[in-house]
Amino acid sequence: MNKYHLRSYRDVIPKLGASVYIDESAVLVGDISIADDVSIWPLVAARGDVNTISIGARTNIQDGTVLHVTRRSAGNPEGNLLSIGEDVTVGHKCMLHGCVLGNRILVGMGAIIMDGAIVESDVFIGAGSLVPPNKILKSGYLYVGNPVKQARLLKESESAFLKQSAINYVELKNEYLEQG
Ligand SMILES: CC(C)(COP(=O)(O)OP(=O)(O)OC[C@H]1O[C@@H](n2cnc3c(N)ncnc32)[C@H](O)[C@@H]1OP(=O)(O)O)[C@@H](O)C(=O)NCCC(=O)NCCS
Repeated sequence: MNKYHLRSYRDVIPKLGASVYIDESAVLVGDISIADDVSIWPLVAARGDVNTISIGARTNIQDGTVLHVTRRSAGNPEGNLLSIGEDVTVGHKCMLHGCVLGNRILVGMGAIIMDGAIVESDVFIGAGSLVPPNKILKSGYLYVGNPVKQARLLKESESAFLKQSAINYVELKNEYLEQG
């Protein structure tokens, strides 16, 4: 993997764990921590400049997704960092801004998650959903819509898929790493 797409901001450069795959067209700037076996797909833009971004093990961030954060200010002394847990699937063209995600979550294609929102572990977010600022999504549920609403409890098959999706993406990125 080349490192052209890893850029520093104020002398801080993204930190990568083992066996991470980052597509060459992705751009990652500043204070970003990426754990083992994460995959970052084409045209992802992640900017850890005015706050920090962390991405947990085996999480995949799919094509065209934007990750950003909010600066500290008088009215918001901590600002809003972005924390994404382990075994999370972030679908194509999502926007994750200054929010906190637990483990085993699927963020459907095109979803937007805004500042201060908290997504507990084991949550499925439907495609195109909008999660407003400071909203808390409870563990074990499907959420859909704009603004997002709790739709129903997850089926067993959907709960299992949350983990399986992460496994699929670890296998896929391993193939990409092997082909060089
Ligand atoms: C929400 C989802 C899980 C389907 O759940 P479901 O319970 O099987 O839903 P159904 O297909 O039975 O549809 C139930 C209702 O929800 C609506 N619906 C389905 N997906 C929706 C979505 N993403 N947002 C809003 N409404 C949705 C359907 O139109 C239907 O409405 P109706 O009852 O008025 O006809 C699925 O559509 C989805 O969004 N999956 C995410 C896929 C994705 O982005 N994966 C990442 C790939 S990289």
